[in-house]
Amino acid sequence: MSTTGKKHLITSALPYANGPLHIGHIAGAYLPADIYVRYLKLTGEDAVFICGSDEHGAAITMRALKEGTTPQEIVDKYHAQISKTFEEFGIDFDFYHRTSGEDHHKTAQEFFQVLNEKNTFEKREKEQFFDVAHQQFLADRYIKGTCPKCGHSEAYGDQCEKCGSSLNPSELIDPVSVLSGKTPELRKTTHWFLPMQKHEKWLRDWVKEGTLNGKTHHNPATWRNQVIGQCLSWIDGGLGPRAMTRDLNWGVPVPVKDAEGKVLYVWMDAPIGYISATKAWAQSGGKNYMDYWSGENAELTHFIAKDNIVFHCIIFPILLKEHGSFNLPVNVPANEFLNLEGDKISTSREWAVWLHEYLKDFPGKQDELRYVLTSISPESRDSEFTWKDYQARVNNELVAILGNFVNRALVLTHKYFEGKVPEPGKQEPIDLELQEEILRINQKPGKLILQHRYREALKEVMKIARAGNKYLADTEPWKVFKTNPERVKTLLNNAIQVAGQLSLLSEPFLPHTAKKLRAFLNLTGVNWDLTQNFELIVSGQPIEKPALLFEKITDEQVENQVKQLNAKKQQKQKEQEMKAMPDVNFEDFTKMDLRVVEIIDAEAVPKAKKLLKLTVDTGAEKRTVVSGIAKHYKPESVIGQKAVYLANLKPKSIFGIESHGMLLMAEGSEGELSFMSPEKPSVAAGDKIA
Ligand code: 2FM
Ligand code: ZN
Repeated sequence: MSTTGKKHLITSALPYANGPLHIGHIAGAYLPADIYVRYLKLTGEDAVFICGSDEHGAAITMRALKEGTTPQEIVDKYHAQISKTFEEFGIDFDFYHRTSGEDHHKTAQEFFQVLNEKNTFEKREKEQFFDVAHQQFLADRYIKGTCPKCGHSEAYGDQCEKCGSSLNPSELIDPVSVLSGKTPELRKTTHWFLPMQKHEKWLRDWVKEGTLNGKTHHNPATWRNQVIGQCLSWIDGGLGPRAMTRDLNWGVPVPVKDAEGKVLYVWMDAPIGYISATKAWAQSGGKNYMDYWSGENAELTHFIAKDNIVFHCIIFPILLKEHGSFNLPVNVPANEFLNLEGDKISTSREWAVWLHEYLKDFPGKQDELRYVLTSISPESRDSEFTWKDYQARVNNELVAILGNFVNRALVLTHKYFEGKVPEPGKQEPIDLELQEEILRINQKPGKLILQHRYREALKEVMKIARAGNKYLADTEPWKVFKTNPERVKTLLNNAIQVAGQLSLLSEPFLPHTAKKLRAFLNLTGVNWDLTQNFELIVSGQPIEKPALLFEKITDEQVENQVKQLNAKKQQKQKEQEMKAMPDVNFEDFTKMDLRVVEIIDAEAVPKAKKLLKLTVDTGAEKRTVVSGIAKHYKPESVIGQKAVYLANLKPKSIFGIESHGMLLMAEGSEGELSFMSPEKPSVAAGDKIA
């Protein structure tokens, strides 16, 4: 096996240990990296794949606050859950670390000190919001207020999630502390700033030309357009100083004098986690971690999603270059976002497919999800996961093409040749064509993987299975056997070789399936170089009786998933709605005159499809109410119906009709409206609801 002699270091973004993983995470930063690393290792390359939990920053402390617990408990809980999920799903890190450990703190502090001694930072005093009740400065998400750009009342100190603007806490209108809900005051505090503006020139050359210190560093044509585009737009827009420290009591303490109560900014500490994870990995295996971080042979690749581009292509590279001992990444193949069923994935709105739940609902179906997520990988634009599409891809591609081909080849070999790979005879033109086609296609996936084009690479693998299926359909060994069993030996030998090819080529994408397939074929020695030969399996070799590689996904299974998804979203909505409602005191409540009324007449409102004009008997008088129930009730069906009614709502003209009061209806999850009807016959119009 010839190798490049490189030392590849591959990192995936450290996930925040503040919640479980969902399919958007996987599609963004983990699955493509896993495919890349598996491929490198299959070709004999020296590659290390590291990751870990990001356990600092406001993402963690805010979560602790919400759950009424400590940051340590939060990170312990989610670190355990996340690492288990990665393992079960088959994201095969060489080391999965965490940033709350002592070794990481030490590495991050040493890194900071080196930069501090080189005068990389500018120490400056500035005014910052301070919560007096909690005796704490309020960084980033600790402060909320009204967005100056769009008026959203729940904007954070660093960002408005409604309009996407990036903000400074001082820009917020009516800022309040998230901790106490009180208006904070401004106090002076000192921070260590990274003057990013000083680095614009070399960053631009590095991103645009691929040069660093006057030398070629990487080929910019290998970078994704949107990554280069985003970086250049940041750089061209002008970089500014950014604080690398925070006033918080959770994080890596700033290791210099006069920095009490300060920790490193999480976006400085987390990427250093890549270094501490490599160190921890090297120590556990007797290696030298710097072999992978420095020198001409070492090649660093960061896998991330697009929201992390600025940190991995601007801020961390500045820090690495300033430090001086580490290489900069040769590529940052950032993915766009994966949407779900027509909407953005959102943890706070519970709009996500959680990986641990998928593994529970679809046990043993890791490769099915890997297949679908790779097929729709958001490499150049946002893409979308839907359960219907998941079902279609599994059933029409994995089951009908890959699974079907392998099954036919193996079953027929058992049927006609007692499960032994038959000796081929003369190869006819159709056989030679198949062999040529396979040898032509099977060189493509590897090249595409090296270009980070995973979707296309997987398509090429499927072409092999398609070619195998077509070969069997064209040559019909099940018919030929009756007249020419010798010929069938050649046909099935070829089919088995194609199955062998698939067991190698599918390995980076579908490792569980590839392993099963090789076990069926008794194929040992997994080496990508083998794909240079068509024949991988010697004649006479016994093969196992196959089990099905994939099962169909039923309509019921996908309908259940969609139902679950909607139910969770609705529950979350209700939770948020209730939280958002201000408390009313008893006095306010008693101001509302709630009564039972009987509907005594009803008619449609011309030109208003949703409205009915009702006449109600309030017990005291007859009143007209315009009510938005026309989509759910016909006028004649509500006559005689009793309902709960807010009697003292100010009258209002609706479609030219004076409407007095309001009927109270219960709104179901599908928007259906029902009367909250008093059940006892003795309840009369005019009775008070108390
Ligand atoms: O965006 C995130 O989820 C961050 N936790 C990613 C950190 S990547 C790296 F810098 F560690
Ligand atoms: Zn806004």
